[in-house]
Amino acid sequence: MTQFTKRVFSGIQPSGKIHLGNYLGAIQKFVKLQEDSSFENIYCVVDMHAITVKQDPKTLRARTVELTATYLAAGLDPSKSIIFNQSRVAAHVELGWIFNCVARLGWMNRMTQFKDKAGKNSENVSLGLLAYPSLMAADILLYNATHVPVGDDQKQHLELCRDIAQKFNNDYANEIKELGFGDQFFCMTEPLINFGNKPVRVMSLRDGTKKMSSSAESDMTRINMNDDRDLLAKKLKKAKTDPEALPSETAGLEGRPEARNLVSIFAALDDTDSQQVLDQFGGQQFREFKGALIDLAVAKICPIGDEINRLIKDEAHIDQVLKDGAERARALAAPLMQDVKRIVGFMV
Ligand code: TYM
Repeated sequence: MTQFTKRVFSGIQPSGKIHLGNYLGAIQKFVKLQEDSSFENIYCVVDMHAITVKQDPKTLRARTVELTATYLAAGLDPSKSIIFNQSRVAAHVELGWIFNCVARLGWMNRMTQFKDKAGKNSENVSLGLLAYPSLMAADILLYNATHVPVGDDQKQHLELCRDIAQKFNNDYANEIKELGFGDQFFCMTEPLINFGNKPVRVMSLRDGTKKMSSSAESDMTRINMNDDRDLLAKKLKKAKTDPEALPSETAGLEGRPEARNLVSIFAALDDTDSQQVLDQFGGQQFREFKGALIDLAVAKICPIGDEINRLIKDEAHIDQVLKDGAERARALAAPLMQDVKRIVGFMV
């Protein structure tokens, strides 16, 4: 069995405000993994993914700076993790193209995120939006990343990444063996979705059945990582709840999506679990609980927001971090890309 280096890769699109869902579902996991010295860590600002839907170029650039600042403010450290923007490492698209030729059209058509985003307009969306999961597989497999921390909305894309790896390994099995790579060239990446007690999906503050998202129209549905203290408090105060008191057992959150969401946000920010939160607040009304949640959220999120706002003022520094990261990513990717080309039969 081929052995692979333990390597983590993940990415976020710079296509909107970075919100609490991105933080709890992804960035907090990145920071924890960075502290585990058995992993190499690679974190990407996936700007090429962002342009699968129309972006204003100036805004895209500003969002790239802001997302990088968020990574740094949350605790990612360029001396421990490779941090870069995707478009600076051309091998992502080179491998992405090869995967476009490995993946099947039917696989792409089945992606629920594509169906959601394209809606009834599927003839008129970009070809890139359809091929997106194949570029995502290339992001991961360009480094043969063994682990990918994400929220649960990315699960299907990661299954597809494994399908692509498997098909490539099968389609080119003879060449892979002949060139001395053993029985497997690409690894079977493991998604890290349930990670500690972090929520796998943070829901909208206005509708506990919908995901918190940067594309939701109303800003009141989400907490952005650099919302100021007043706005953050206002959003939580206005967050939808139900008329019942909080239950004392997690089973009592069944059928109460808004209550479940606020309790799991509290637990994630406080590094405990939902049952411990209910041990403390069970039987209380939302008014009291929300007061405590606001204090906790302000204490945990606002210092990160302050640091983001400080860092984005120094664009040259952010750019340098991304440039250095890209150089390291390119060095890591180059030999693998060369091997892929030889396997496929390109003259190198
Ligand atoms: P994106 O940019 O939509 O989201 C970035 C990360 O945040 C997580 N997330 C959430 N987690 C919990 N609750 C939520 N409400 C919530 N909203 C977002 C997402 O699960 C994700 O982990 N396709 C990816 C970007 C990507 C990528 C990759 C990820 C491109 N290449 C390679 C991993 C590996 C995306 O659009 O994520």
